Amino acid sequence: HFMQKEIYEQPVVVADTLQSYIRPLEMQVAMPQMDFDLSEVERVVIVACGTASYVGMIGKYWIEQMARLPVDGDVASEFRYRDPVLTGKVLGVVVSQSGETADTLAALRHMKANGVTTAGIINVPTSSMAREVDLLLPTHAGPEIGVASTKAFTCQLAVMAALSVNLARAKGKMTAEQEREIVGHLKEAPAAMNAALSHDDEIQKMAHTIAEARDVLYLGRGPCYPLALEGALKLKEISYIHAEGYAAGEMKHGPIALIEPSMSIVVLNSKGRVSDKVRSNIEQVRARGGRVIAIG
Ligand code: M6R
Repeated sequence: HFMQKEIYEQPVVVADTLQSYIRPLEMQVAMPQMDFDLSEVERVVIVACGTASYVGMIGKYWIEQMARLPVDGDVASEFRYRDPVLTGKVLGVVVSQSGETADTLAALRHMKANGVTTAGIINVPTSSMAREVDLLLPTHAGPEIGVASTKAFTCQLAVMAALSVNLARAKGKMTAEQEREIVGHLKEAPAAMNAALSHDDEIQKMAHTIAEARDVLYLGRGPCYPLALEGALKLKEISYIHAEGYAAGEMKHGPIALIEPSMSIVVLNSKGRVSDKVRSNIEQVRARGGRVIAIG
């Protein structure tokens, strides 16, 4: 299947993409030439659809944390019709694999018509969006044939990380040492992806467990929350199993009532200050007999 082929291409295409955004000797992040000054940006607005909108949500966590800039993220189908406030020095960012999604393109045109400087994280360089943005930030995922987005998503994240670091540097919120550390992690990402992909056997076993479930809940906190949303979207799209993504801390405010032994719960956790909280969410799920699949 194309989707499977594209999943396995990720280490290579993410490395290809990062090559355009990293100066390996200086251990710095680099951006294409631009004719505006990132240090003047006062606010960031990120607009996209579907999987690409989850890249926008993760961008909100990263840019706010690293650059201390306020970020609004929205799905394009809401953004374009809700007459958003676009005053001040806004950087409008669209994220799209195809560069042709009608709602995202309309959102881009709406921002431009309102005097917003725009950047686009886009995979198809000849697309309408690629031609119309002020700053093109290309992903080098190659053609994505599978309808379910995989490699485009991870390449978009690589570029979003680079943009976040650039904004942080431009706003004077990141030291050279911090930047070196992040670039080091980015350089390790393709190898880490390879390592993850080598867990095929375990993943197949998990798939059999999940296939029996009627409902699947994906939980995460921080940037793992949009990842949970993406996981749920992918499962719905590919397996036709009902799945929901939830912020793990919200579980006790409703969805906990659904947990019972026929439910699989995929919990995404990464190192960080909320890691212990996610662990306690796992215990709550276990106490109610839910089957936990933890990815960390
Ligand atoms: O081409 P785009 O990235 O603009 O497409 C947006 C969405 O339609 C897309 O991300 C969709 O959600 C995924 N293909 C689902 O896997």
